[in-house]
Amino acid sequence: MISLPLVPSEVPLLDVPEDERPCYLDSAATSLKPKAVVNRIAQFYAFENAPVHRGVYELSAKATDLYEQARQTVGAFVGASAESVVFTRGTTEGLNIVARAWAEERLGAGDEILVSPQEHHSNFLPWQELAKRTSATLRFLPLNADGTLDLDGSLDLIGPKTKLVAMAHVSNVLGIENPVREVFAAAKSVGALTVLDGAQSVPTRPVDLTDLHCDALTFSAHKMLGPTGIGALVAQTDVLEAMTVYQTGGGMIRTVAVGGSEYLDGFHRFEAGTPHAAGAVGLAAACDYLDSLSYDGETGMAAVAAYEHDWGQYAIEQVRQIPGVRLIGPPGDHEAEGGIVALQMEGLHPHDLAVLLDAQGVMCRAGHHCTMPLHAHLSADGAYPATSLRASAYVYNTLADADRLAEALHVAYTALTKRRTVSAD
Ligand SMILES: Cc1ncc(COP(=O)(O)O)c(C=O)c1O
Repeated sequence: MISLPLVPSEVPLLDVPEDERPCYLDSAATSLKPKAVVNRIAQFYAFENAPVHRGVYELSAKATDLYEQARQTVGAFVGASAESVVFTRGTTEGLNIVARAWAEERLGAGDEILVSPQEHHSNFLPWQELAKRTSATLRFLPLNADGTLDLDGSLDLIGPKTKLVAMAHVSNVLGIENPVREVFAAAKSVGALTVLDGAQSVPTRPVDLTDLHCDALTFSAHKMLGPTGIGALVAQTDVLEAMTVYQTGGGMIRTVAVGGSEYLDGFHRFEAGTPHAAGAVGLAAACDYLDSLSYDGETGMAAVAAYEHDWGQYAIEQVRQIPGVRLIGPPGDHEAEGGIVALQMEGLHPHDLAVLLDAQGVMCRAGHHCTMPLHAHLSADGAYPATSLRASAYVYNTLADADRLAEALHVAYTALTKRRTVSAD
């Protein structure tokens, strides 16, 4: 087992002299990659690379085995069988596949799609577009003032017209878990399809498809120590069987003829073209690596969740003491809160703040974080801009990184107030 937090020698970007080590706090956007994953991908390209599902020679058969073993590993990581796993380019593509291949031909006028304004644009726009194309109605699950889901109000919206409910498991701004199990159980009771955006949850906590009453789950490898350009749509096999083709091309056909063509069943049907085999192998290596972590008596993803929670609570305590800081979201004692801290600083645009932090070696994301409706909701009183600064930690961040963040915020605030005093003189 490898104890959390990871030591810098595990992660090439952090494996530099201490005074040069970056304070990387943008893992909710994309994570750093440990040596184990980088080396596994390099090994594939160096010694195992061959077309998968296309060659009869041994090297190709071995690459195919590795690709299919990766499917097994990725499925098991979220409590599903290999047959449930479609490799995609990431969360966004998985959500678009469900909108196009499952929902488009089933929905029509009078049907309702439910989604909340808290969602990342990737789990918002496909449903907005779907509503336009099918004439179904897009309805919005209500939020509380702090951006969290209003559970009772949400359950009230679910009824016989509800055909699809899509929700993020964990918000990429608030860092807290949504009450997915309750909402999805209600959605299933009226026969609706339940779609889970696992972009922020699969990297940070144990996720089990069936336990959450989830029909389809999507996530991205690059947020969980894996490579970019690969992710998975994991769906109940009856849902996959009910889906129409999304893209057509090589690798997904049974026969092709001038008079008409037939396609393969199951996940094969959704993987047209030469697949990203090295990416799949890298994603599986990331799953294995995450499973090998330990913290405070926990192992695997339970260890990651416990560590993220402790880091987040510590960071919130440090940051809330800095003058001028307004934390976004629920108060920092939320038990389902992970390692994301979003904030605004009085009198300073988040972009300017991020530049001031970067000058001190602290890397944070600034802007709307692909959640314009959520930021509009959070800034409805007009007191702050509809943007924020987001610090997000992962398994390699230490509590000292949270201290560095707080110090850097303090320096930024001091510089700002000094400038204000000078200009007032
Ligand atoms: C909650 C959430 N959903 C979806 C996405 C989109 O992920 P990707 O860009 O990897 O497809 C992100 C990425 O930031 C996210 O945080």
